[in-house]
Amino acid sequence: MYINFNNLLMLAPLAGYTDLPFRSMVKKFGVDITVSEMISSYALNYNSKKTLKMIEKSPLEIPFSVQIAGNKTEVIKRSVEILNEQDGINIIDLNCGCPAPKVSSHGNGSGLLKDLNLMVSLINTIKTYSNKPYTSVKVRLGFDKKIPLEIANALNDSAADFVVTHGRTKIDAYKKEKIDYNSIALIKEKIKIPLIANGEIDSFNKAKEVLKLTNANGIMIGRAALKEPWIFYQIKNNTLNLPDMIKKDIVLEHFDNMIKFYGERGCIMFRKNLHSYAKSHPNATEYRSIVNNISNPQEMRESIINFFSDKKIS
Ligand SMILES: Cc1cc2nc3c(=O)[nH]c(=O)nc-3n(C[C@H](O)[C@H](O)[C@H](O)COP(=O)(O)O)c2cc1C
Repeated sequence: MYINFNNLLMLAPLAGYTDLPFRSMVKKFGVDITVSEMISSYALNYNSKKTLKMIEKSPLEIPFSVQIAGNKTEVIKRSVEILNEQDGINIIDLNCGCPAPKVSSHGNGSGLLKDLNLMVSLINTIKTYSNKPYTSVKVRLGFDKKIPLEIANALNDSAADFVVTHGRTKIDAYKKEKIDYNSIALIKEKIKIPLIANGEIDSFNKAKEVLKLTNANGIMIGRAALKEPWIFYQIKNNTLNLPDMIKKDIVLEHFDNMIKFYGERGCIMFRKNLHSYAKSHPNATEYRSIVNNISNPQEMRESIINFFSDKKIS
């Protein structure tokens, strides 16, 4: 399997959101690569059912990336061996960006940006033991300060096939004003492998702007896709036009797939998706409190039909 790193479009891993039903829906809008939610390498080692469900994919998802988090060589190696037994995974990605204290304060996720030698060694462990064609890494610009040049050097010392760079440090968290595309451009200039730029891309025009500013080989979009998954259609087709689809049908299909995948509990899990889909529509706040009180799938389906039937995708 060959990946063409030319204006590549990736859906960002979003823990709690980018499960199979969401990824397969977004895939229809033209995204090139989908990524699992972050999987703890420790949980993978325990073969937990919940964790294995997180790496199930739709047949449409090619290439499919599984993102693992961890900082222990043996645990990472064992995770790779477990993933080697699963067909349909094309990329194993190492999470070096998660800022959550329960992850980063133990040296996992963005905590690895404080020990770049270890980061390189873990990437190389994945590359050595993986039977998948690609190994990638997702980084931020640093932990408590920006270190783009150090990160670029580390990437050049590693066996990673490509990198995704989120343009903030760990301590920047998700502060909008902290996004720094120039530092992404600096890393891109120094490295030999393809770079995918990430952070605050929420429109067709912004996507174009970030590609130009960073000279990246592609872009990754996360939160904007929760509200407007069709953003990938516009970028892929180089158009400001929207796909000829009805919003209600998109939301219903996503909801039905949630129930298929998770059973009845998919109904409660879908509340957060409805919050995103309803954003910026009149009465969104009211609708939010309505769905927060619905646990029955049939009732939720009816609420979707009522709320979205006169709504256009925008
Ligand atoms: C709710 C949520 C969950 C996230 N989960 C992950 C994750 O599991 N792995 C990861 O590498 N990044 C994760 N991120 C970071 C995103 O992948 C992405 O880097 C970040 O949201 C910036 O991109 P955006 O502005 O397009 O959303 C998460 C972000 C959010 C908001």
